[in-house]
Amino acid sequence: MADSKPNTQEQIICTCTGTTKEKIEQLIDKGADNLNKISSATGACTGCGSCNILILELLEK
Ligand code: FES
Repeated sequence: MADSKPNTQEQIICTCTGTTKEKIEQLIDKGADNLNKISSATGACTGCGSCNILILELLEK
């Protein structure tokens, strides 16, 4: 639970839609267990698709 990093800078996972890592992790916590669910909830991966691998990495955690 130790979080020494400042929380002021959100990490953008999908630059096309501005979807943050925090947003995706919240969705995973709520039960989004695949790329489709995250994509339809946030629009992530509907643009260039280059965030695909980053989202999959978050899903694997
Ligand atoms: S970075 Fe996510 S669709 Fe382009």
